[in-house]
Amino acid sequence: GHVHHYEFVLKETNFTRLCTTKSLLVVNGSLPGPEIRVHKGDTVFVNVYNQGNYGVTLHWHGVKQPRNPWSDGPEYITQCPIQPGKNFTYEVIFSKEEGTLWWHAHSDWTRNSVHGAIVILPAPGTAFPFPQPDGDEVIVFGSWYDSDINTVVEADLQTGADTPYSDSYLINGQAGDLCNCSKGSSHRTLVDQGKTYLLRIVNAVMNADLFFAVAEHNVTVVGMDGNYLKPFTTPYITISPGQTMDVLLLANQSIGRYYMATRQYYSVRADVILYDKSNATAILEYRGNYTSQADPVFPSTLPSYMDFRATDKFLYQLKSLASPEHPVDVPLNISTRMFIVVSMNQILCPNETCMGINGNKLASSLNNISLVNPPIDVLLAYYRNMSGFYTKDFPDHPTSYYNYTADEFPFNVTVPLQGTKVKMLNYNETVEITFQGTDVLNTSATHPMHMHGYSFYVIGSGYGNFDPENEPKGYNLIDPPEMNTVTIPKNGWATIRFVASNPGVWYWHCHFDRHLSWGMSTIFIVKNGDSPETSLREPPANMPRCEVPFTD
Ligand code: C2O
Ligand code: CU
Repeated sequence: GHVHHYEFVLKETNFTRLCTTKSLLVVNGSLPGPEIRVHKGDTVFVNVYNQGNYGVTLHWHGVKQPRNPWSDGPEYITQCPIQPGKNFTYEVIFSKEEGTLWWHAHSDWTRNSVHGAIVILPAPGTAFPFPQPDGDEVIVFGSWYDSDINTVVEADLQTGADTPYSDSYLINGQAGDLCNCSKGSSHRTLVDQGKTYLLRIVNAVMNADLFFAVAEHNVTVVGMDGNYLKPFTTPYITISPGQTMDVLLLANQSIGRYYMATRQYYSVRADVILYDKSNATAILEYRGNYTSQADPVFPSTLPSYMDFRATDKFLYQLKSLASPEHPVDVPLNISTRMFIVVSMNQILCPNETCMGINGNKLASSLNNISLVNPPIDVLLAYYRNMSGFYTKDFPDHPTSYYNYTADEFPFNVTVPLQGTKVKMLNYNETVEITFQGTDVLNTSATHPMHMHGYSFYVIGSGYGNFDPENEPKGYNLIDPPEMNTVTIPKNGWATIRFVASNPGVWYWHCHFDRHLSWGMSTIFIVKNGDSPETSLREPPANMPRCEVPFTD
């Protein structure tokens, strides 16, 4: 493969959206940030200069980084933040991925403005598993907050209050014609009639699953999360934060302008839908002569808010391509089986001024443990055998079983433990995890669960409490979709499988930043195999240091 070099300069820059001007930390002056374009098998060095006001890390979402968690990015998991005035060069290794992925900041909520797409073309001498499109374009969904979001979140975490979903959504940095003060600034995708385009869609919003549709046009879904799918044609897609989707669009309508629009499909808070800030639009514009200035057509096929049936219908169509060139490799004999309860919770208020549910602080957990970041990154502590920074006792199962999707709960499951508990795995273990959502405190929601360093097969999902006797009979072991982010249905479950063949320290978390900030994450450490080729690489010389005193 080829080696590419990118320079990313992080700097505060002014942006005006929805009648509000504010400063945002962005890369190279743009929102979304620059696109990285490579072929499968390439390596990219990204030199990140932090000219902002606070520490930042970057993550290459969906890139497996074989044996190289040193460049994976989540703060206090695999590195310490790059401090203002400092730089760090990430080495991003593209091994198995093909399609679209993305990069984003992985510190505080900075990913809101620090993100961009990664396009991975087939290796030289190989082709797409579908006819070569006439063009391609990246479509990134983002969130806009009128206020400074890191400040708001910090204050909310102090008081235990809920944090905002966003003030609107963006498509390629623009809210579109239907939002305040946004008319005329929409992103436009220019097409020629009769041609086919590959839209590379990234959901980079902070807290919401989205529907997306193009007026009068169907799309054909061909890939997801850097893996190919069996193509299927649909009038809309559903996409969760963290996920990426490759869709073909044939410009087969009359010359004109058509809205491409997103809509949020669920929130646990009513105020999010009191006015319609969930529609962001862009314009699909045919090249040619226009006789009328009529507004573009709005997609009638965009499912409405809370249309879970539309989501399910879409998700059931996701199947791996499962071709000789792109085979499926689901492990059949499982050595480690886990059941992870994904839940919202509360932490009792220490001082009677908390603003979460019941006057407590909002929290969230996996198997009733809220992750607490250690003062130095877990990767360094693991690599240097330093004790006291984490414990190896993340449980394979919840400590108490209950009716997860009922309305009444034992008190102890509403209040989680806090700690830095990791799950240890031997090299090449075959792992199955069932994630189970809950309705604790009446807060059931979807959860886009993302694993670093891996992709996995999603072999089943459903509503209600997982039934270990019956559900496995319905598992798809033939052509399950391969993802790096799986959406656990609201009040439901999903089961995934993977082989632990990438040694290192890897973060597992909900990709809603509200939930992540409250503790909905854990860490998997995959031990080395017995050869150098199956062991963790050496750390680079210039890893950012933490600001706490510790001994080497
Ligand atoms: Cu999109 Cu932890 O990542
Ligand atoms: Cu979540």
